Amino acid sequence: MTAMLLDTFGRAATDMRVSLTDKCNLRCTYCMPAEGLPWLPAPELLTDDEIVRLVTVAASMGVTTVRLTGGEPLIRPGLPGLVERLASLVELSLTTNGLGLTKLAQPLADAGLRRVNVSLDTLRPERFLSLTRRDRFDDVIAGLAAATAAGLSPVKVNTVLMRGVNDDEAGDLLAWCLDHGYELRFIEQMPLDPQHGWDRSTMVAADEILEMLSGRHELTPCERGTAPAEVWLVDGGPARVGVVGSVTRPFCGTCDRIRLTADGQLRTCLFAREESDLRAPLRAGATDAELAVRMQVAVRGKKAGHGIDDPDFLQPDRPMSAIGG
Ligand code: 5AD
Ligand code: SF4
Repeated sequence: MTAMLLDTFGRAATDMRVSLTDKCNLRCTYCMPAEGLPWLPAPELLTDDEIVRLVTVAASMGVTTVRLTGGEPLIRPGLPGLVERLASLVELSLTTNGLGLTKLAQPLADAGLRRVNVSLDTLRPERFLSLTRRDRFDDVIAGLAAATAAGLSPVKVNTVLMRGVNDDEAGDLLAWCLDHGYELRFIEQMPLDPQHGWDRSTMVAADEILEMLSGRHELTPCERGTAPAEVWLVDGGPARVGVVGSVTRPFCGTCDRIRLTADGQLRTCLFAREESDLRAPLRAGATDAELAVRMQVAVRGKKAGHGIDDPDFLQPDRPMSAIGG
């Protein structure tokens, strides 16, 4: 191994999120406007070869886990082939809205994908339609079942609760996930929407979520690792539930993450104001050693925290779908 990807606060980057596309086949209201976003032009997207090259370099510096994201990563053509190449380098997982899993879960598992996180904010088909602007609820449910059948376990469900929208479903979602053997993770809504509609008052905070759940269940805290989610055993276990309190319980101090956007920019945080271009040097013929140095320099610039609570906090220039969820 060359050197680790260390920042000036002593944190080592060992986990990389790799966005495969900024496009999506849903239009979640908190993520995209109905008409979609100005998508990245195809020539700007990294090719499979380029992604494999950059992950190889990152792995040589201690990145051991990679999560594939988007937009919606399952819409990238030829995904099982890319997964097969990456799975020999790092431990691979994927975050998806679940559409397409009925077809892809098994080929992806066969190619070496270990786990999936499936986003689902409601159990009510009509509410799903108004939240995502697409009538695809049944496809997501079928996709979850396909993930289990393919052995992509534990299958995790990601839920963003919003006040007055779906916060009345926290208990039902947990009961349903317990019933189906899915591990539920609630994620606090973060200021990453292109419409800049995020408001602290509509965000449902971790404390509130826990209060809602503990009315129905006995929750026992599990030991906290570096994972963003705080996890509890439900009614003595083995079932678990997690809460990602990105805003009210930030975990920046133990962050081990970096992000590669679909157009080849390295970001040290979802909320970073700067990106480091890896695509230009890559396409200009940089050696692995040169790419490694660029990554190291970028990681050294990683800030201590996201600063959402600072009065001068500014949302990043790109929305979450372009950065990678
Ligand atoms: N805050 C928190 N989570 C978000 N997601 C999308 N936008 C936001 C946001 N602003 C979630 C999706 C999906 C995952 C990739 O991130 O619902 O579960
Ligand atoms: Fe697509 Fe995920 Fe954004 Fe919904 S939140 S529109 S599923 S990228």
